[in-house]
Order: sequence, then C-alpha cells, then structure tokens
Amino acid sequence: MKPDVKTIIFLQPFLFFTLSHVSHISLASHPSHPSLTPLTLLSPLSPMHTLVFATHNAHKAREIEQILGPGFSIKTLRDIGQEAEIPETADTLEGNALLKARFVQEKYGFDCFSEDTGLEVEALQGAPGVHTARYSGEARDPEENMQLLLTNLAGQANRQARFRTIIALVMEGKEILLEGICPGKIAPQKQGTGGFGYDPVFMPDGYDQTFAELGEAVKNQISHRAKATHKLIEQIKVYTANESEQFE
Ligand code: IMP
Repeated sequence: MKPDVKTIIFLQPFLFFTLSHVSHISLASHPSHPSLTPLTLLSPLSPMHTLVFATHNAHKAREIEQILGPGFSIKTLRDIGQEAEIPETADTLEGNALLKARFVQEKYGFDCFSEDTGLEVEALQGAPGVHTARYSGEARDPEENMQLLLTNLAGQANRQARFRTIIALVMEGKEILLEGICPGKIAPQKQGTGGFGYDPVFMPDGYDQTFAELGEAVKNQISHRAKATHKLIEQIKVYTANESEQFE
C-alpha cells in the first residue's frame, strides 16, 4: 500500500525517527533541485545515509566518500569524538575489521563499518598480510615498510602480490563481512608520489605504473577498497530497501 500525502505528513515524525537510525536527513533544499521541499527529501526512497567509518585515516575516508557518491554522509572516528586508535588485536583481517566496527557500535550506538587491508605477497607466503601496517615496526612508517618489503624481495623473480580489503558492516544488529581483492605485483623500486602507504611499490594487474603514479581516479576504479566498497553499497541498499518496504 502506498501512503497518500496526509499519511506521509502524519507519519513524518515516525519516518524521521526510523530513518535517522541509519540516515542523516537534510532539511535544507536539495542544491540541484531547489524546488524540492523537505517533505520530498523525507521520502524513504531518497534519504542521505549516515554511517560511521571506523577510521582516523582521512585519505581512506575521502576515497570511500568519493566511491559512495553524494547520497552518503560518512563520519569518521574523530567526528564522533573517538580520538584514540581502536586496538587491532585479532590475527586476521576479518577479525580486526569486526573488532573495530563492534567497538563503535557498542560504545557509541552508531551503525558502523570498518575496514582492514593487507598486502599479501606470494613469494613471502602471504606476508605482510595482517601485519602490513606494522611490517617494519610499531612506528608504522610507510617508507620503512616499503624499504623492508623491497629488501625481502631482492633478487626474487616472483613479484606477485595482492591487496585484500575486508569491510565489516555492523548495521541494525547484523554483522556482515565483504571482501575486495586487487591483484598485481611489487615494483622493483618505488615509483610515483601520489596515494599513501605502499602505493609507490604496488602495480595493479593490467598497468605498468604503480598506484602512486596512476592517481586517485584510476585507483578508485580498480582498487581492493573500491571493490569492497561497491559490495558495501549493495548491502546498504538492501537494508534501506527493506526499510522503504515498511511504508509501501
Ligand atoms: P589498515 O587497514 O589501515 O590497517 O592498513 C594496513 C596497511 O596497509 C597500512 O600500512 C596502510 O598504509 C596499507 N594500505 C592500506 N590500503 C592501502 C592502499 O590502498 N594503498 C597502499 N597501502 C595501503
């Protein structure tokens, strides 16, 4: 059953309450559709979705925001007042991703997603893997990490590697794990200045440049994080579609 206008007006506070559980609803006019009223924007089919992304990494937050597009508002740990790092004590990417999302859900009550990424190098039996951030020590220094990796692969013909991202989504009491993989190889030396982390030494399959040379636009099309994020969007759509059905 579709609600008529009177029903929508009557339901407005309930819609707001329900949707605000997963959504931030802007009461300002839509910039590209100034004639749309706030009531139109309260349609359960077009809410602005707010989720906490359990990270302090502004680079990653920007990447994910660009991939998600304009319908989503992403808050970071800093936005919700969580300044301290959430300890990553699990021994798998999956375990660490879940641990961070659960922490935010339990402490702050927000629906949340978190991600954990590892660089898995074939000739190193999957290392650095879950230890990617701290490969060269607790300082988590990207330059030292890359240097150690290049040293450990010196003289090695097999340069096959992959980035693997796990996203854990904790939403409406459910937990879901999503995976994105970007296969490639480790370059003989650092190349390029863009990006972050191991980008200067990682060449994705199909390219003869590193992520650091290819730039954000290309990386966002093919990266491990982009693939996992597209799965995240599909999953969020399933939730929001289910919510909308309650009003049909
Ligand atoms: P974490 O998931 O933030 O803990 O990242 C683990 C490690 O992988 C860190 O050293 C990051 O710098 C590195 N890393 C994660 N994503 C990327 C990427 O897209 N490019 C290069 N390095 C990355």
